[in-house]
Amino acid sequence: MKITVVGAGAVGATCADNIARKELATELVLLDIKEGFAEGKAQDMMQTAALLGFDTRISGSTNDYSKTANSDVVVITSGLPRKPSMTREELIGTNAGIVKGVCENILKHSPNTVIIVISNPMDTMTYLALQSTGLPKNRIIGMGGTLDSARFKYQLSTTLNCSPSDLNALVVGGHGDTTMIPLIKHATWNSIPVTKFLDEAQQQTIINDTMVGGATLTKLLGTSAWYAPGAAGAALVESIVRDEKKLFTCCVSLDGEYGQSDICLGVPVVIGKNGWEKIIAMDLSADEQAAFNKSADAVRNMNDVLKTL
Ligand code: LAC
Repeated sequence: MKITVVGAGAVGATCADNIARKELATELVLLDIKEGFAEGKAQDMMQTAALLGFDTRISGSTNDYSKTANSDVVVITSGLPRKPSMTREELIGTNAGIVKGVCENILKHSPNTVIIVISNPMDTMTYLALQSTGLPKNRIIGMGGTLDSARFKYQLSTTLNCSPSDLNALVVGGHGDTTMIPLIKHATWNSIPVTKFLDEAQQQTIINDTMVGGATLTKLLGTSAWYAPGAAGAALVESIVRDEKKLFTCCVSLDGEYGQSDICLGVPVVIGKNGWEKIIAMDLSADEQAAFNKSADAVRNMNDVLKTL
């Protein structure tokens, strides 16, 4: 199994570190445009192998895509992260060109790969990856909802004082501060609805804190977060390479599902060796469906910006 992570910044390096520790690959390539940077990160990570006991071989490459040849999975983290008070959407001008170039280079050397997109604005970058690679839609996966659902579980767990891994909770829709939809009415604590334990005000606070989860961290850190985004990327890689068929919310191409087409948006999917294998239909309430449609409108407007670049 060979995995490539493009972009050796904080998110890419954290994702690669998780992939190595979990031994998801025999070969892991870290690629970056900055001279020597990916090589340095790869060497540093390889020097943890004797301490952590993994056998994955990690190598770095300065923009030489031939090193990524025949990757089974490629994670794209390239592009600028956001700065405090910036929205993810404001990154489109810079990141669209970067992500398009990365996709074209990846495809030349790994025509059968599955691509996981982390770069922002994630929904539009996933749509761009689908269009620019022409790969079958099941092989293009946007990571956003996986991260947002983990953040939702974090917020729920702090209020409920429970283990985050005892929670089932999904965030659907876009990966934007105003476009994501934490589905609190569907969330359970080991199959008991969480709404049983939370009044309306608590529910609203959890929803709001989840939606600005990334922005809160950007404000604290001065740049966007990396531990949870990197771990979310690695969780998807794991479900693919081990063919786990785990259910995650991911940004995928919709073809009439949830009433939307010609768009990539976050919905529950099964992730296995073929990429996203199945979209799971949920029964959304009228309010939830309306929020989903509104989210789709916002993401579609962002996708339209691609035509002007
Ligand atoms: C975040 C970025 C990775 O939400 O989108 O932290």
